[in-house]
Amino acid sequence: MLLVTGGAGFIGANFILDWLAQADEAIINLDKLTYAGNLENLAALAADERHIFVHGDVCDTALVSSVLGRYKPRAILNFAAESHVDRSIHGPEEFVQTNILGTFRLLEASRAYWNGLNDKMKRRFRFLHVSTDEVYGSLVQGQPAFSETFPYQPNSPYSASKAASDHLVRAYYHTYGLPVLTTNCSNNYGPYQFPEKLIPLMVVNALAGKPLPVYGDGQQIRDWLYVKDHCTAIRRVLEAGVVGETYNVGGWNEQPNIKIVRTICTLLDTLRPLVIGSYHSLITFVSDRPGHDRRYAIDASKIERELGWKPGETFETGVTKTLRWYLDNPAWIGNVQSGAYRTWMEKNYAGRQA
Ligand code: NAD
Ligand code: DAU
Repeated sequence: MLLVTGGAGFIGANFILDWLAQADEAIINLDKLTYAGNLENLAALAADERHIFVHGDVCDTALVSSVLGRYKPRAILNFAAESHVDRSIHGPEEFVQTNILGTFRLLEASRAYWNGLNDKMKRRFRFLHVSTDEVYGSLVQGQPAFSETFPYQPNSPYSASKAASDHLVRAYYHTYGLPVLTTNCSNNYGPYQFPEKLIPLMVVNALAGKPLPVYGDGQQIRDWLYVKDHCTAIRRVLEAGVVGETYNVGGWNEQPNIKIVRTICTLLDTLRPLVIGSYHSLITFVSDRPGHDRRYAIDASKIERELGWKPGETFETGVTKTLRWYLDNPAWIGNVQSGAYRTWMEKNYAGRQA
């Protein structure tokens, strides 16, 4: 069996759903259920014994150790994190706590567990750390995409905390021999993404007739990958990745934010037309994110060359699937837009000058 941390969040939930649709190997899902963790994402597994949910914090060493001792997983996949850059600007402490201390505590518990395994299980064990391209910092136009050897230059409290966690993971391999793997992925989108991130935020705002807040000039570039493709990359790295290595994962799909927002508006104009006018009229430029990274781009040639992985979806197919999912799941949208969500929207957007 596998231990997944943060499996009630966006990518973790997609990973668990895909895994259990394809394999009978059970998953223990350790999640703190922060605002971003939502068991509704895993409702399809409510009666499935292969999904064992444990409510808890990766910082809780006693809990993690007891889970490891009881279930004896062959691998740990660490998705748990505070993941939203804007929230890290408003309140960095949780990011240090979960992303740095949490990863450290998980590594310590894993090391003790791994040391106690028999030789066969020890050889088979993997600690796979799910990380981000943001650790590499910001590119200027024309600069080559991030390869695995690009220097770390994190610019936000979020990316700095993820960079620190990556370094700890690396150190546990070099110092203690813990069999680790790290993936650094670009921007994901798809079903179950919390509507604080660009694509789902634009979709839920558009459907509610609210402004679509584009930061700064909207020319910041991200490399977008459909979440199910990220999940297949993680499976492939777990299966065949070389211990101690890192793998960059991306969609070969760089686009400026404003283009993404316009694409969403154009698609919604077809899929859910307004009685009068177009969703494009909701686009509103607002003041920028402090320290906003200008461009990310992933060179995903290593994982393609060495492990044979490449994305299965184009942006057009992936974003259409995503929009259809949000259109088909109004109850999910309604449930996540609780009081806490409204407080966050007020905090992040009320002060931004249009
Ligand atoms: P998310 O915010 O949707 O989910 C995070 C999950 O972690 C939630 O279920 C939350 O409850 C849980 N969690 C938070 N703190 C915890 C703690 N202390 N103990 C246990 N569980 C805790 O995030 P996501 O978008 O699914 O991202 C998952 C991972 O992938 C993160 O590590 C993130 O850095 C990384 N990543 C995300 C993207 C992206 O575009 N979303 C891209 C590359 C990498
Ligand atoms: O690159 C991978 C990273 O992608 C992950 O590690 C993070 O967990 C994930 O949140 C994401 O970070 P970004 O900051 O790139 O994602 P976000 O969706 O918040 O923003 C994408 C771009 O859109 C970014 O340039 C900021 C801009 N934006 C975002 C929001 C929420 C807007 O213009 N308006 C908005 O309201």
